Amino acid sequence: MQVGFYGHVRQYHNIKAEIDAKLQEVLESGQYVMGPMVARFEKELAAYFGMKYAVGLNSGTDAIWLPLMALGIGPGDECITTTNTFFATAEAIWIAGATAVFVDCDPKTKNIDPSKIEAAITKKTKAIVPVHLYGQCADMIAIREIAEKHNLRIIEDDAQSIDGYGKGFKQGELSDAVATSFIIQKNLGTFGDGGAVVTNDPEIDRICRKLRNHGSSKRSVHSFGFNSRLDDLHAGVLSAKLPHITEWTDMRRKWAARYSKGLAKAKHIDLPYEAPGYRHVYHLYIIETKDPKDRDPLLAYLNDHGVDAKCHYPIAIHQQEGYPWGKEARIVGSLANAEKNAATCVSLPMYPELTPEEVDYTVETVLAWEMTKAKPKRVAEGA
Ligand SMILES: Cc1ncc(COP(=O)(O)O)c(C=O)c1O
Repeated sequence: MQVGFYGHVRQYHNIKAEIDAKLQEVLESGQYVMGPMVARFEKELAAYFGMKYAVGLNSGTDAIWLPLMALGIGPGDECITTTNTFFATAEAIWIAGATAVFVDCDPKTKNIDPSKIEAAITKKTKAIVPVHLYGQCADMIAIREIAEKHNLRIIEDDAQSIDGYGKGFKQGELSDAVATSFIIQKNLGTFGDGGAVVTNDPEIDRICRKLRNHGSSKRSVHSFGFNSRLDDLHAGVLSAKLPHITEWTDMRRKWAARYSKGLAKAKHIDLPYEAPGYRHVYHLYIIETKDPKDRDPLLAYLNDHGVDAKCHYPIAIHQQEGYPWGKEARIVGSLANAEKNAATCVSLPMYPELTPEEVDYTVETVLAWEMTKAKPKRVAEGA
């Protein structure tokens, strides 16, 4: 059996009529950039989050740095985040011109460890950028408390966790803005790139809206800005998909539970941790080998047996060659948990359109790899 890592085409086929109708509507409208579909999707997205504003952008990366810039954060300022995340989190801080300050993650959730944040705060610290990694929200209550105490801003990196919530909080409720990504592989993905900032702050909305469009909110009138617009065709795809997000998350959670049940007795791996009261949306289902030396053999075994497993992310940002490329960066304390995560993680196929057979085959393949480890090593001759 072959188990693919992504289910993009299956998802398209399942709701083809809805997507095609939205694409047709855009094509016939003759308005493909900053047209009515973008405005409509922005309204739908803000309503879905239960927030006032959503600004469609051309990527999730821009959805982090544009609000940082809108808050006046730039050169000389520091933003605290983690290194076991997709590269774009730190990259966005650098694009804004600020210094990326890295602290360790929690060993269980892999999200920023709030107890490590205060030691990293200096007079220059302006913001915290927590990542809701793999689909589980960071501990926003603890993060918010620290932010209030030190007068810091918070931009949530929600690229992997749309539709998730934490115990006693919703995304956006405890921060200045939520940055999300619509690149195809995300839980709400278009056929290409896209992103959005969701916020209750009218100034963040106003400035991001202007910055994304060459610094213009009125035809022919400009200040400094960029081109970071969400195209109408993408907005149409996302508008067709948004009503399905909750049912798709439920499917992801169902497959995650099936993986966790099937792998419960595995001896050589740790399973993902779900914090009580949190809705983990399983953008990725990550297992970790107890021994880092097992990671590459497990990955190779899965790939050799038809399971397209991957790693997210095998090289932590501070371990990338050339780090920090002349950019301003600071590491505070040990990053041992982030480094362990990078050295041991394996992502199993995870998308709503998986079949029970595919999940079970993946489980069997992991367990079969465990059996290969159980085999006694051949004793060297004469030993
Ligand atoms: C945690 C995280 N942050 C930021 C991004 C950047 O999003 P994009 O690729 O849409 O720029 C991604 C995904 O790509 C991500 O996974």
